[in-house]
Amino acid sequence: MNVDEGAVEFTVPAARDGADAGVGDDVFYNPTQELNRDITIATLRAYQEREPRTETYLDAMTASGVRGLRAAASGYEVTCTDTDPDAVALAQSNLKENELDGQTLNMDANAVLYQSGPESPYGPESIFDIVDLDPFGTPIPFADAALSNARNLVCVTATDTAPLCGAHQQSGIRTYSTLPQNTEYHPEMGLRVLLSALIRTAARYDTAATPILSHVTRHYARTYLELDTRATHADELVSNLGYVHHCEDCLTRRHEFSHTAHPPSICNHCEGDRILTAGPLYLGSVREQAFTRHVRNHITAEMGEAQKADSMLETIENEIETPTHYDQHRLCKQWTRSAIAMDEFIEQLRTAGFDATRTHYSGTSFKTDASIEQIKSVTTDSNES
Ligand SMILES: C[S@@+](CC[C@H](N)C(=O)[O-])C[C@H]1O[C@@H](n2cnc3c(N)ncnc32)[C@H](O)[C@@H]1O
Ligand SMILES: [Zn+2]
Repeated sequence: MNVDEGAVEFTVPAARDGADAGVGDDVFYNPTQELNRDITIATLRAYQEREPRTETYLDAMTASGVRGLRAAASGYEVTCTDTDPDAVALAQSNLKENELDGQTLNMDANAVLYQSGPESPYGPESIFDIVDLDPFGTPIPFADAALSNARNLVCVTATDTAPLCGAHQQSGIRTYSTLPQNTEYHPEMGLRVLLSALIRTAARYDTAATPILSHVTRHYARTYLELDTRATHADELVSNLGYVHHCEDCLTRRHEFSHTAHPPSICNHCEGDRILTAGPLYLGSVREQAFTRHVRNHITAEMGEAQKADSMLETIENEIETPTHYDQHRLCKQWTRSAIAMDEFIEQLRTAGFDATRTHYSGTSFKTDASIEQIKSVTTDSNES
């Protein structure tokens, strides 16, 4: 069937809904990832203004070729690769139908990345300024190749949300060499586990991989890492790794920037001893505020998810810098209260003099500089408001 996305028209296998995407032998296409792709294109456009030298884009797991096609339509020199020969044939015909230039390869992404550069068998232009990893599940098998061979930017999607957020803890430990914990801020836990692993991987090559934009939905985490090959910058980024100590009894959490964990034996708030320690996690900023604003300016009307993308990016732009967020419903359950409208809840915190914002992680989540006790005392029950 034919699909229109961001001003390119392309052929994909017959429709499957989001949950069934990738099931069976068909070339993969997931319509529910259009939001992710719209933000990718806006980011590529914004990045080209930030670094006008960037020209080349590797769509490292191309499937139908949709990302490569849309990047080519935005002016990038694209290479699309996939291990599935049917995918490569489809990507090639989709490029041709749109009269877009682009190289297609039927190769493993790691092989393409390790053979890229001026001596490459597939052309001297194949030093990739931007590499996009969009695998099934975890991106870790491709992280070394991408972070050690891309020039400017590595875009990463991870769909293994259960291992990332601690719901499948052993798998998370194996894959990410860190200890994730299952908490009520699981989407942010997952993102910070992913960033920790990617930043440590890049650091092994004396490279700083700084997240300039990140977002999480129920099904995936997505991040854009800008590379800088100064070892001192890699050191600075690594100094943003550390631990979160979370009290399961009162939901207080504390974080520390450190290479070693110093978990408290009891919670300094409720004196409970059910402390979960997660880490090493990346505790720094998951986005650059000015760049996020810049990306918003490149969301354009032909994008199918333009409104959702802009609204999500606006929330991300304004999020307070804390490594964890709260969930109003979870707190209300804890305090046997009924929840109030989020806008009113945030306003109550602000009126009391605290910094407070919604977050993009969920409709009931927020960030604040208030402690649990302060949040409890300055916000109200629905019966009181
Ligand atoms: C999630 S899909 C990619 C979706 C696509 N980027 C999009 O936006 O619609 C993952 C693709 O990775 C391909 N793949 C799996 N292992 C690979 C590898 N080692 N190198 C390159 N491609 C691979 C699969 O054949 C599949 O087409
Ligand atoms: Zn406690």
